[in-house]
Amino acid sequence: STSKVHTIACIPGDGIGVDITEAAVQVLQKLSQTLGAFEFDFTTFDWSSEKYKERGWYMPEDGLEQLKKFDAIYFGAVGWPDVPDHISLWSLILPIRKALSQYVNVRPTRILRGTESPLMKCSRSDLDWIIIRENSEGEYSGQGGTTHENTPFATATEVSIFTQPAIERIMRFAFETAKSRPRKKLTMVTKSNAQRHGMVLWDKVFYQIKEEYPDVETDKMLVDAMTVRMVLHPQSLDTIVATNLHADILSDLAAALSGSIGIAPSSNLDPTRKNPSMFEPIHGSAPDIAGKGIANPVGAFWSAAEMVRWLGYGEAADGLMECIENVTGAGIKTKDLGGFEGTKRVTDAVCAEIEKTL
Ligand code: NAI
Ligand code: MG
Repeated sequence: STSKVHTIACIPGDGIGVDITEAAVQVLQKLSQTLGAFEFDFTTFDWSSEKYKERGWYMPEDGLEQLKKFDAIYFGAVGWPDVPDHISLWSLILPIRKALSQYVNVRPTRILRGTESPLMKCSRSDLDWIIIRENSEGEYSGQGGTTHENTPFATATEVSIFTQPAIERIMRFAFETAKSRPRKKLTMVTKSNAQRHGMVLWDKVFYQIKEEYPDVETDKMLVDAMTVRMVLHPQSLDTIVATNLHADILSDLAAALSGSIGIAPSSNLDPTRKNPSMFEPIHGSAPDIAGKGIANPVGAFWSAAEMVRWLGYGEAADGLMECIENVTGAGIKTKDLGGFEGTKRVTDAVCAEIEKTL
């Protein structure tokens, strides 16, 4: 065939990460077969907490080198109750984001057709946001240590790192994103009243980069007040830029306000395209519902759509989103969205919709 082949590394990980990755692969296969313009060559890696308990490692020594050879990475979720979360996170997902220079995390939020916000007066058009999260440093830079461990004098530090170049590149990405959207509006979030060094630098760089984008309307929020604004005035927001920790928290709130954490996607991007980017739903391994066949696969499908878009097929990505919303719009939904269907039924319905409409 003449279609372009894209190599995809799949890391399903733990719990519902496995179910939703399988569902996403099924949908991506159906999309490529139906459209015929591109193909996916998937390679699955069994890097997970279960294997860690057997083998003592999450990723082999050359794991990051292996991943660099792919066009993109599709990730499920990592973490399981019998392994401390800081070990699973720092052994798999965080090293990938850092080593592959995926310094932007993009988290769009919308209320999909057929779903509703838990906010009583929030209509679908009131909530349409993109959160841009700094993904390489800040509060998750990993600097710090513990002395006098396991004694009454235990002392621990957790040092946030903010560098001018990293702030500049995330701000440029945020302004470009805001500029590409109809409202051309960017809200910058910090806590620079209480945290008076790193966050003050963050504010300063924001105003420097703003000079390059006179057509983007901006405002600045403290993170605590931002939670209030997201709940009370969702329609006043469009594009949002925040630090690693703040955007992590705000995007979970955003997902909940749009109906469920089970629909929310994320893209870990290396905008220079020197390394593959990674696509994953924002939720975790959900041990409470793992193995029950009820995980919502919509966040996984939306993440897959963003992967398709990043690989250069914007129209196919829009088509996939349309199919997903036709399915949610028809009431074919999992329990977290107030529906009655399982993962498989929703997945099959999206596949049928792709075949029918694309
Ligand atoms: P979680 O996102 O796994 O679950 C939070 C709640 O949302 C649970 O009640 C769960 O049932 C529900 N939920 C999540 N995804 C859902 C879906 N697709 N459909 C329906 N319901 C869904 O967060 P939690 O419980 O804090 O973490 C569980 C594990 O996942 C931990 O080990 C944590 O470290 C890990 N984790 C991993 C992430 C990653 O791999 N990027 C991100 C977040 C957490
Ligand atoms: Mg999170």
